[in-house]
Amino acid sequence: MKAVILIGGEATRMRPLTQNIPKAVVPVLNTPFLELVFRYLSQHGIRDIILAQSRRLPIAGYFDDGSQFGIRIDYTNEDAPLDTAGAVKNAEKYLNEAFLVLNGDVLTDVDISAMVSFHRQKRAKVTIALTPVDDPTSYGLVETDDENRITRFLEKPRPDQITTNLINAGIYVIEADVLARIPLQTSFSFERELFPQLLAQDEPIYAYPSAGYWIDIGTPQKYLQLNQDLLAGKASSRNYGFIPNIDVLLGDKTSLNPKAQIKGPAVIGSGCTIEEDALIEQSVIWQQVKIGRRAKVKNSIVANHCQLGDDCVIQDAVLGDNVTVTRGARLAPGSKIQPDTTV
Ligand code: GDD
Ligand code: MG
Repeated sequence: MKAVILIGGEATRMRPLTQNIPKAVVPVLNTPFLELVFRYLSQHGIRDIILAQSRRLPIAGYFDDGSQFGIRIDYTNEDAPLDTAGAVKNAEKYLNEAFLVLNGDVLTDVDISAMVSFHRQKRAKVTIALTPVDDPTSYGLVETDDENRITRFLEKPRPDQITTNLINAGIYVIEADVLARIPLQTSFSFERELFPQLLAQDEPIYAYPSAGYWIDIGTPQKYLQLNQDLLAGKASSRNYGFIPNIDVLLGDKTSLNPKAQIKGPAVIGSGCTIEEDALIEQSVIWQQVKIGRRAKVKNSIVANHCQLGDDCVIQDAVLGDNVTVTRGARLAPGSKIQPDTTV
């Protein structure tokens, strides 16, 4: 079975981390995000992947045709963003039998092999994986009957519309004939248009609920959470090729002064220099970052090529690429610093 992965252009909520690189390749445990998704799909025998991009993003530079990852990747680009269903229609020439669609910002342990069997057994047109969340308002709410047939799909429900904690996990199995219902080269949404329309026509749309790990890396906070969850072994490590329960992950060619202290969960990328008595706690540091003496970094994300001066204090902050923090500076907690600035 082939998989279409949806990659939208603007990841405004992930700024300033995504000013220079697409969200799809932000480093998670020092590995480009999509590479983890590829490993997960490979575990389920899915090695034929179409990256449906809302515009030409510098992603092919990371993965090329996929052969170095043991998969095959085709790319489609949109002249103007076509929204979720429009993006899959744009990849129609690659799809001639039932296929899988994944939102490109989700990492999960949903058992897609079992989901595909369920889809076939139910003779569904579309099967949607569901996951429970605390607050469905930023997701697609899905109501079902006792047989897991979907009765209602409501994207971004208002608080007074919440009837269940089960939401669309952003993974679908779709029969190829459904493509005929999506207009060509037109912005068209699975969530707001196609799914409600199929339900109105009484088509068999089923839900595959899963209690496994699931996260949408939409914000820096969620991104930090994902790194920490993977280190803690919360997602099935078998899927992603990691050894769980390492508290601290250090990249190659990173020099760590013996008197520097790192308290996990923490990830430090390659080519970094961490000086004497620096303290790094529950943070993710990208590549080629220099952290000065006695500097403190806590619960923060520091992107590539940042320079943190001696004695500075960074807490609950997100630093874009190439930020310089001057000696002794204290960033206000919650700061988001744009790339190439000095604070
Ligand atoms: N190619 C392409 N073109 N991809 C797009 C476009 C587009 O025009 N618009 C969005 N995407 C991609 C995004 O990059 C993302 O991978 C996926 O489609 C979903 O879009 P988001 O913008 O991340 O939507 P969301 O997170 O608010 O909601 C979606 O995901 C939730 C689960 O995380 C919906 O599918 C919800 O129903 C769902 O619960
Ligand atoms: Mg999303």
